[in-house]
Amino acid sequence: MKKFFAYFIPILLAFTIGALGSYIQGEALVEWYPYLIKSPATPPSIVFPIAWSVLYLLIGISAGTMLARGDMSVLRLWLLQLLLNFLWSVCFFALRSPFIGLLVILALDVAVFAYIIYAAGRRAVAAWLFVPYMLWLIFATYLNGYIYIHNHGPKATTATAAAMAIAIPKFSLPVLPYADDALAPIMSKETMHYHYGKHYKAYIDNTNRLIMGTPYENMGLEEIVEKSEGALFNNAAQALNHQIYFEGITPTQKVMPKELERRIVRDFGSVENFNREFANTAAGLFGSGWVWLCEDDGGRLSVVPTKDADNPIRHNLNPLMCIDVWEHAYYLDYQNRRPDFIREYMKIVDWDKAASRLTE
Ligand SMILES: [Fe+2]
Repeated sequence: MKKFFAYFIPILLAFTIGALGSYIQGEALVEWYPYLIKSPATPPSIVFPIAWSVLYLLIGISAGTMLARGDMSVLRLWLLQLLLNFLWSVCFFALRSPFIGLLVILALDVAVFAYIIYAAGRRAVAAWLFVPYMLWLIFATYLNGYIYIHNHGPKATTATAAAMAIAIPKFSLPVLPYADDALAPIMSKETMHYHYGKHYKAYIDNTNRLIMGTPYENMGLEEIVEKSEGALFNNAAQALNHQIYFEGITPTQKVMPKELERRIVRDFGSVENFNREFANTAAGLFGSGWVWLCEDDGGRLSVVPTKDADNPIRHNLNPLMCIDVWEHAYYLDYQNRRPDFIREYMKIVDWDKAASRLTE
């Protein structure tokens, strides 16, 4: 019975502290953490509770193996590291200070390392059970450090965000070089009113709201799309996608510039082949998304579909032109006839604009 409690109490304590830490982190993960610039090595959110659960179990068993032998000598070190672990949640998440969080997690690293050294001299298994925890902490220290370096400054606080609420919006709806009825009947005035004036504008307004008081405030739209996640990514990427879309159409029929035509013929066999592949891909894309003509690093062109708000720049591709196949783009004019919209849309593509986006 004594042995049972020797294991049970530290495991329970570790999980209780872990649950309290998770509770503190919960709010921040939703409201604050998504807007931080994070390391590309940051794992998906689901990895964290799984990893911590396993690690808390291991460190609980580690303390249990010492206590089961009646050895209380490492108990203080074990409790210290657990306290520092909880303190890190408070500092990094609740106080939203990557700097203080970094100091605390460095202290935690030292405490855990000291525990391993001390336990190794008494009971090797107790030390080994802490090794995965130590490795994870080194990774967490790197993530905390990365966030501190890349989000350095007072703008990473929500208090600043509130103070900036009256600031001038960074991004604004661009004025189009054509009238709102100039593309009719291919794209009606009503579609322009809703698609350009409501949907596109909402993505820009949301982006402006979400970047306030965050490091993204100082970035251009493309950089935000490259680095953000979650709601900010969805809105910023849709703002960029619609910018490319509305810039890329014209009421004046354009002949495809020679260089773009040469590249399309080289990479698709003929302009007709390209048109067919582009139209088929757009018609076949399930749900909401976009279809793009893209250029890769080597200058080769390809047709690329993307889901929802995704943009080719997230895949190291340079977008030249695109079609929006979200229903809001065509439903007023074409209802469920997406292939008709695609066919008509190809008549208003501004090929000069697409060619001007070539980099190679
Ligand atoms: Fe759209």
